Amino acid sequence: MTDKVRLTDGFHRRLNYLRLSVTDRCNLRCMYCMPQTAFSWMPADEILSYEEILKVCRVLADLGVEKVRLTGGEPLVRKDLERLIGGMADLPGIKELCLTTNGVLLERSARSLYDAGIRHINISLDSLVPGKYKYITGFDLFEQVWAGLHAALETGFSPVKINCVIMKGVNDDEIVDMASLCLRFPLEIRFIEFMPIGEDSFWDPGRLMTNDQVKKVIEQDLGTLHEVGNPGGGGPAVIYTLDGAIGKLGFISPMSHHFCATCNRLRLTADGRLRLCLFSDREVDIRSIIRKGISLEELESFFRKVVLLKPRGYEHLGKLQPSCSRQMSSIGG
Ligand code: GTP
Ligand code: 5AD
Ligand code: SF4
Repeated sequence: MTDKVRLTDGFHRRLNYLRLSVTDRCNLRCMYCMPQTAFSWMPADEILSYEEILKVCRVLADLGVEKVRLTGGEPLVRKDLERLIGGMADLPGIKELCLTTNGVLLERSARSLYDAGIRHINISLDSLVPGKYKYITGFDLFEQVWAGLHAALETGFSPVKINCVIMKGVNDDEIVDMASLCLRFPLEIRFIEFMPIGEDSFWDPGRLMTNDQVKKVIEQDLGTLHEVGNPGGGGPAVIYTLDGAIGKLGFISPMSHHFCATCNRLRLTADGRLRLCLFSDREVDIRSIIRKGISLEELESFFRKVVLLKPRGYEHLGKLQPSCSRQMSSIGG
């Protein structure tokens, strides 16, 4: 473990969690995540190579980052991801390697991801009805994701979490069915409030369902929710159980309950921008300095300085307006 002073921002928040977007490409077109009109992928030469990513991660690990989550776009569409994961697993200081995926390619890659070092998997799944799944994601691939989810459980990933964004008039009729998964499977089902991200998104304040409303619907059908707090600490989800459940329910409520005071996250986009807050477009270009050959020591002092730019939070969300220009698909959540 590092004996250096750990990375801390200007509000005394320790930054020990990196969300790393490895590609902006995706094999789905989820309505809440992708632009509504034409868009193009980042050119290949703008994407950080695995060697460049590992250089950044080596320095961050040395500064106290212990948890890395690979995100996208869809991380599993990037070739040979296991090579990057293996390199990360070898970095001193990295204790937790996690992946957020849409699950489409999971059935075939679950074993190799596990062997490379991933232990925690979050799978995006917003509907259990194949036709609705196709409507939300643009592709008729529910069965494939369902098989991927089971492959994740059978391979031994723990925890396996399901991310479900509830949108009024789209999938709010499936809240109880989604929540009921925790009665049958050792999954954590997380209900995520729809967030206004990107300028050309499907966002509409009328589609927002707060988690207090979601909880009410669940309790009417499935009984009292028992809060168990946030055992992992630092993460945005508040966890609950239901009587008789073998899994759990989690509620991520950025719209109704801000959790910025305990934020421990940094984000690195696939094109090498450090994003200090999900909702802030103030990004720091890491790619140029890496490509100019910055030394590990210089990179370390650079990070110590730039993290002081991390904002306190995002009060402006109360206005229910899209608050940043990048699409979620190129940030990775
Ligand atoms: P674990 O707590 O390790 O399971 O991961 P996570 O919940 O941070 O990761 P995941 O990629 O599954 O994200 C779930 C949802 O939480 C996504 O919609 C993210 O955008 C959202 N989220 C994660 N971190 C933040 C954050 O710092 N701020 C906000 N507003 N939302 C976040
Ligand atoms: N609001 C809330 N969550 C979102 N996600 C993507 N876009 C949005 C949005 N606009 C979630 C997906 C995915 C995670 C990384 O981010 O459900 O699981
Ligand atoms: Fe952290 Fe920004 Fe998310 Fe708040 S909105 S929790 S400061 S990343």
